[in-house]
Amino acid sequence: MNSLAGRRIVLGVSGGIAAYKAVEVCRRLVDAGACVIPVLTKGATRFVGRATFDALASERVRMSLFDEDDPIPHTTLGQTADCVVVAPATARVIGAYAAGISSDLLTATLIATRAPVVVCPAMHTEMWEHPAVAANIATLAARGVHIVGPESGPLAGGDEGAGRLSAAADIAAAVSRVLEAASRPPDMDGLSVVVTAGGTREPIDPVRYIGNRSSGKQGHAFADEAASRGAQVTIVTTVDRPGPPAATVVRVETAEQMSAAAADATADADLVIMAAAVADFRPADPAGVKLKKRDGVPDLPLEPTPDILAALGASKPAGQILVGFAAETCDLAHNAAAKLAGKGADYIVANDVTARNAGFAHDTNEVLVLTYDGRIHPIGLRSKRQVAQAVLDLVLADRVAQTAMQENQ
Ligand code: CTP
Repeated sequence: MNSLAGRRIVLGVSGGIAAYKAVEVCRRLVDAGACVIPVLTKGATRFVGRATFDALASERVRMSLFDEDDPIPHTTLGQTADCVVVAPATARVIGAYAAGISSDLLTATLIATRAPVVVCPAMHTEMWEHPAVAANIATLAARGVHIVGPESGPLAGGDEGAGRLSAAADIAAAVSRVLEAASRPPDMDGLSVVVTAGGTREPIDPVRYIGNRSSGKQGHAFADEAASRGAQVTIVTTVDRPGPPAATVVRVETAEQMSAAAADATADADLVIMAAAVADFRPADPAGVKLKKRDGVPDLPLEPTPDILAALGASKPAGQILVGFAAETCDLAHNAAAKLAGKGADYIVANDVTARNAGFAHDTNEVLVLTYDGRIHPIGLRSKRQVAQAVLDLVLADRVAQTAMQENQ
């Protein structure tokens, strides 16, 4: 199981000679499917250029507590991270973190996060063995911070001893273990889950299509989360990204194909999650050959596509749980409530796709979950995987409560 796939990882890099090795840590995490956001201290940029991380990481480098795009970058980073890794961690950063001092973006993020933290110290042996550093490390370890390394070996300046940054492969493996340990227990063992993901494409001709901005990230995050909790997952997706290991992946393009695949896959499913952004209209008569500009603006009559969620809601087998989505640009709760009632869903996960850092293409999301019995659960800004985790927590808790009620009747 790849516990790094789809995870949002803040990679803190502080100012030591080992900062260049953080580039390799970044690359390994990205290669394993993680979304890596580098946070560099001013000192780090003396050893390695921010352009290197900008090129390799999933998001641009952050350095300042005063970011033009985000008034509170440290809380956004801290709250939306699945894990914060500091590699290398200097004596200064370790000391500030242990003492709760937040003088720069990295230390502020460390203090603002509730995600698991992995600290990878690197410094000269004399510094590593200093009682202040040893006490700070002991404090962090006692608070549950994961300390990886340092190792013994050659150090800068020709010295030898304890203080070398752990190998990039070992750091990536440690992050993976930490994320796996922080995962939910296998409380979906034996459940069959179908997820739809991505935006459909409705052909105009063999070259052009009507589409939408959905990236499929939220749907894939649901599939990854359900699989990591033991579910047997089928993902019907329009996007070219791997499903979780052992999942059945059905690739489709149009609403019609998604409708057929969903009808096939959902008959025996315990839980269906309709996260896909399905086109509502398609060209009624797509051209078999490319439309030529010289022939002028085409007449493009549209016809409605099947409403997959409504059809699933109308034919839902007893006991199946149906989760729909609502992508809105205004009146979120009102529009979502209409979809909950109108489509026969048990839950609607609603998001305002115009909100900052939420909705299409972002790695984070912020949603309202409306339930079959009129509750509204807000889920604040966090990674799409954490949103999936929170929604599944809610659905499973309701399922357990309902089963208990039925048993008591
Ligand atoms: N949906 C569907 N089939 C469609 C359109 C939407 O199954 N043809 C599903 C989506 O997967 C989502 C839910 O219906 O779970 C709501 O989709 P959304 O695009 O928010 O709403 P629409 O029903 O398309 O209504 P509108 O575009 O008018 O908001």
